[in-house]
Amino acid sequence: MPVTILAIESSCDDTSAAVVRDGYLLSNLIAGQEVHKSYGGVVPELASRAHQANIVPVVDQAIKYADIEREDIDALAFTRGPGLLGSLLVGTSFAKGFALALEKPLIEVNHLHAHILSHWLREKDKDKRTPGLPFLCLLVSGGHTQLIIVDRDMKLEGIGSTIDDAAGEAFDKCAKVMGMPYPGGPLIDKLASEGNPDRFIFTRPKIEGFNFSFSGLKTNFLYFLRDAVKERPEFVEENKKDLCASLQKTIIEILLDKLVKAALKTGIKEIGIAGGVAANSSLRSSLSQLAGQYGWNIYLPELKYTTDNAAMIAITAYFKYLENDFTGQDTVPLARFNI
Ligand code: KG4
Ligand code: ZN
Repeated sequence: MPVTILAIESSCDDTSAAVVRDGYLLSNLIAGQEVHKSYGGVVPELASRAHQANIVPVVDQAIKYADIEREDIDALAFTRGPGLLGSLLVGTSFAKGFALALEKPLIEVNHLHAHILSHWLREKDKDKRTPGLPFLCLLVSGGHTQLIIVDRDMKLEGIGSTIDDAAGEAFDKCAKVMGMPYPGGPLIDKLASEGNPDRFIFTRPKIEGFNFSFSGLKTNFLYFLRDAVKERPEFVEENKKDLCASLQKTIIEILLDKLVKAALKTGIKEIGIAGGVAANSSLRSSLSQLAGQYGWNIYLPELKYTTDNAAMIAITAYFKYLENDFTGQDTVPLARFNI
């Protein structure tokens, strides 16, 4: 009998539902939320409200696109955390209600776990390599920056993480200082492609082990611009492409420096990236270069699976289903939820 999972993701500002059957994706629908753009960041109250409005049509469409009946669903999966509590509550409550109505089990999924396991998602008629084990993954998103090992039993072990801001946060906050809308990461990536990455030099942190830090860079960038604008108000506009390229180069170097150290120390050569910042073109090309240099097999997620989506929740839930790892109706969402 095939195993069919319907999964819901609502941890931040994307409402998403997906159907996976036997590890193969049948549908993945995402409703984004434009409402946050003008606020310079996600507004939690507005996010919960938009999830509430979007969740029924998104789930409905995911079932239709997958071309299944509700009765075909074997389990309901949802993101338990980490994320915005109000947002998580919408997906969690919906999944619970649906599970009760269908009399099917519930599976809770850690959002970070799912970003990493998105590398195991298969699609019909697409020949995709999945990572060999152990696998070393750099998870870089708006809220997290972590180095994680997936061991031979598919268990996850974190070996390093940011001690302050996440990499995506560094992109977004520096973009805001330059007057760009949220999220600034993709825009910096675009402008950086036409700029000179060696024009400006910014601070690199000196942190022991495999941990990261981005708050020093953020402050350095802020003070540098403040002083430059004092002397010449047009400074940012006149130098935006070079500022973006130099900032991006610094962030990517900080990330890859630790990834290389971790790969050399552990001896792991199956290497990947996951999370929103994994869409960054410079991170992807630099990693490809390093792969040649160190003999790594690298795994770059398709762009549509870098940002938040329910497909990654569904594949993670599928593995949990195979292990009979279910959760009860009394489960509550967690804003903080470590791997
Ligand atoms: O994983 P994600 O969708 O949400 C979280 O779980 O945080 O990641 C969103 C983050 C944002 O900070 C956004 O600016 C960043 O990913 N991002 C990028 C790019 N695309 C998205 N950062 C740099 N370059 C990009 N191309
Ligand atoms: Zn995410």
